[in-house]
Parts: sequence; structure tokens; C-alpha cells
Amino acid sequence: MNVRATASAKAQRFDPQTSTFAADVLDGLSRQPKQLSPKYFYDAAGSELFEQITVLPEYYPTRTELGILSARSSEIAAIIPEGAALVEFGAGATTKVRLLLQHCRIGAYVPVDISGDFLKAQASALQRDFPTLRVAPVVADFTAPFELPKAVAGMPKVGFFPGSTLGNFEPHEASAFLRSARNILGPGALMLIGVDLEKSDRVLHAAYNDAAGVTARFNLNLLTRIDRELGGDFDLAAFTHRAIYNRERHRIEMHLVSRKAQTVRILGRSVSFRAGESIHTENSYKYSLERFTTLAKSTGWTPQISWTDDENLFSVHALVASA
Ligand code: AVI
Repeated sequence: MNVRATASAKAQRFDPQTSTFAADVLDGLSRQPKQLSPKYFYDAAGSELFEQITVLPEYYPTRTELGILSARSSEIAAIIPEGAALVEFGAGATTKVRLLLQHCRIGAYVPVDISGDFLKAQASALQRDFPTLRVAPVVADFTAPFELPKAVAGMPKVGFFPGSTLGNFEPHEASAFLRSARNILGPGALMLIGVDLEKSDRVLHAAYNDAAGVTARFNLNLLTRIDRELGGDFDLAAFTHRAIYNRERHRIEMHLVSRKAQTVRILGRSVSFRAGESIHTENSYKYSLERFTTLAKSTGWTPQISWTDDENLFSVHALVASA
């Protein structure tokens, strides 16, 4: 974030979160090429749109990962130590963690997320359905170091990072996250992580350009959020969603492309777009099994087992934190 963007955002007397959002938006839109962070997709509307994406016929990751977790539930239960503290990095739909809770003898569940309200709602719903489970949520940015609750100090630790959220991290961020998770969970800890796999352009293209246009609405919602929270005047009809697979860099790239030359006002600043100019809004990296296990090994983890589905669309890995 540059100094002028920070100063300009602070001058607006926003709460700290909105202030950071404002500074990141001004900074990202002053870059060449323009960019916005995918972490800002997830306001209430964006989270709801993402839930809709997960059940689209073209979007294979969610149902494929669930299929793997369900098919391998007894193997997974066999490697999870009895009475373990299950630390989930990020809080979303609870379908996947429920599967683990049903099949494994988990002692405590520790969901970690920056959004306190969402975390509380998720934690109390789980507590209702698993009344004897100790639920100890942690409000924190899970990409940075944080402390585990004292209540789980003596328990074996199992990290859980499903959904291929790792794919939305740049390679250096993915390494930093895996290293940090290893330090937080400690030596000997287990990690279950879902990672999307490289595959044909056709399947990938369809998954990020669904026929119903939900992914397009998810992408464009970022502009709606800027208009609402930062008083921007983006005309949504003047931008179009584009998702392409960049095979050289192993990633889906999502963009919002300006349909014409135009100027947008945000926080008293003008941002000009050329016709066809894009805002790069997300990367979703895809891994081969080999590239992922090499990454895991280089960040303090020993790959133990990798499971995939019959079509090799998605993978779930069990890693052990090296001493
Ligand atoms: C959350 N994340 C793993 C999704 C993905 O596939 O990269 C976000 C997403 N973007 C467009 N569709 C789904």
C-alpha cells in the first residue's frame, strides 16, 4: 500500500477495516496493470455468491473434495489421533468439518477467522449439533502468526485447510502460510489440506465461466462493494468478467475488463480506464501432486498420503509437521 493511498484513506475517518480496504483499493487501481485483492470478494453478498458457486454444475472443486473426504473417511479417522484439537484455517460452510467430526474422535474444534461475527455464528451452530465437543474459536488473520487457545495446549494438533484456498495465495504466500501453520501447530502435528489439480483448459474454463453467470456476479460484486463502502461510482454494466487459464503460470486469472474508455471516481480520486483495460482480481493456482508435495517438503512438512478422485480433478493431502 503506498503512502498517498494510506493518507487519503485515513482522511475519510473510516473504521480501521474499511480504511485498509480503501487504501488497498486506491493503491491497487493506481498500479499497472490494475489489481484488487481477492480477499475483498467476501462481504455478505460475495460470501453468498461464493456459496452459490460451490454448487454450480461446472464448479467441480467443492463436491469433488467432499467426495474424497467422504470416501476416505475411515483412512482419515485412522491417522487423526484420538482427542485431537482440529484447527481449521478460515471459517466457511461447515459441511466438510462436520464430515470429520462425525468420523473422527476430535477433542476440540478451533476455527480461526478474521470475521468474528461469522465465526461466532458458525461455532454456535456446530456446538448445537455436537454438544460434547469443545469449540474454541480464534478471531485472527490466519495468514499471520496467532496463538492457539490455552484449552487445547496438551492436545495433539490437526490442521484443516480445505477448499484449495491455498490456490488463491501467490507462491510466496503459500510457502509463508505453510511455514506459519507448521510453527503454530508444532512438530508432529498433522495437516489435512485440499489442493486443486491442473487439468484440461476446457474443464477449468467452464468452472470459472459458468453458464448461469454466478462467477461473473461474484467478480463484479467487488465493484459494488467499492461503490457502497467507499462511495465509488463504478457502472457495473461497463465492466465484463473474464477468467482465463494461464498454463505457463499454472493459474486461473480472473479479471474485470473495461468495456470502454471511462473514468471512475473513488474517494475523491479519478481512476481512468482504457477500453479493454483490466483489473486483475484473482489468481487460483492449480498444482500437480508433485509440485504440491515439493512445496510442502520445502516448508517443514512431510507428505504422508495424497488422495485424489477417479478423474484426478482434486487432491487432499495428509502432511506431518517435521521436528
Ligand atoms: C475460494 N477459492 C478457492 C475459489 C477458487 O476456486 O479459487 C474462489 C473462486 N473464484 C471464482 N470461483 C471460485
